[in-house]
Amino acid sequence: MKIEKVNLVYFSPTKSTKKIVNSIAASFNTEIVDYDYTHKINSKDVPSFGSNELVIIGSPVYGGRVAGVAESFFKSLKGNNTPVVPVVVYGNRDFEDALLELSDYLKENNFKMIGAGAFVAEHSYGREIAGGRPDTEDINIAKLLGEEIKKRLESVTDLSEIQEIKVSGNHPYKERPPVGEPWAPITTDDCTECGICVSACPMAIVSPKNPREITNSQLCIHCCSCIKACPYDAKLFTAEPYKKIKQFLLDNCSSVNKKPKLFI
Ligand SMILES: Cc1cc2nc3c(=O)[nH]c(=O)nc-3n(C[C@H](O)[C@H](O)[C@H](O)COP(=O)(O)O)c2cc1C
Ligand code: SF4
Ligand code: SF4
Repeated sequence: MKIEKVNLVYFSPTKSTKKIVNSIAASFNTEIVDYDYTHKINSKDVPSFGSNELVIIGSPVYGGRVAGVAESFFKSLKGNNTPVVPVVVYGNRDFEDALLELSDYLKENNFKMIGAGAFVAEHSYGREIAGGRPDTEDINIAKLLGEEIKKRLESVTDLSEIQEIKVSGNHPYKERPPVGEPWAPITTDDCTECGICVSACPMAIVSPKNPREITNSQLCIHCCSCIKACPYDAKLFTAEPYKKIKQFLLDNCSSVNKKPKLFI
């Protein structure tokens, strides 16, 4: 079957999910449409897709689930017997139920899953955990997934000829952590007020007037985009919940190198 267009739809504060979905699309020499929803994840303006389009949809894994802030967005995407490749990207701990969750939302909205993947990337919480991932090998595996999907689509005349894929994960999904006291990054004296973190924040809560200030800590999703974007390392987390998670990751996830998992 002929694919007229490949759509990349993702939420990606620290840009690894973006890298992976782009690599999956690399082997398609058709129109590629980029739907980067990182900075408009609460937008009501959500695209819908036809049956001759492929959609590659990516989310980071937060707490073994699809990023919570993006859940409603993913649930609102509409297909029309549209082939889809859901992808989750995680920081070398585990992706648990995230891929199953994402694929469930898509199947409920008239997408047909023809392949899927769980990829590893540097953990948002620090370079010590999977630093440098996705590396060349990860990118090659993402490209391979894309090539496989392309071959599969080219080998059929109708989507019904492709068997639906099953992914790993459990129902009910892992519980999201309870909402506790708000915490957000602090800013050190190294800040030059360059403003880079203002545009990096997907929740628009770094004050444009004073980038040292977080306007609403309750909205902070702890994505680390502002921290990673700061050229002067002037933003960081010092809050207790962060310290606990970071220590857990250092103890358990810094010396293993998990591999991408493909479902094709
Ligand atoms: C709040 C939060 C929760 C996370 N939870 C997990 C997790 O459960 N398992 C894991 O391996 N990585 C976890 N990560 C790491 C991210 O999944 C990983 O860094 C991913 O590459 C981020 O995607 P992005 O670069 O597209 O933003 C978490 C990161 C954040 C910020
Ligand atoms: S990016 Fe860093 S230096 Fe620039 S305004 Fe933000 S905290 Fe300050
Ligand atoms: S302030 Fe919070 S939500 Fe905004 S970029 Fe920084 S960590 Fe992410």
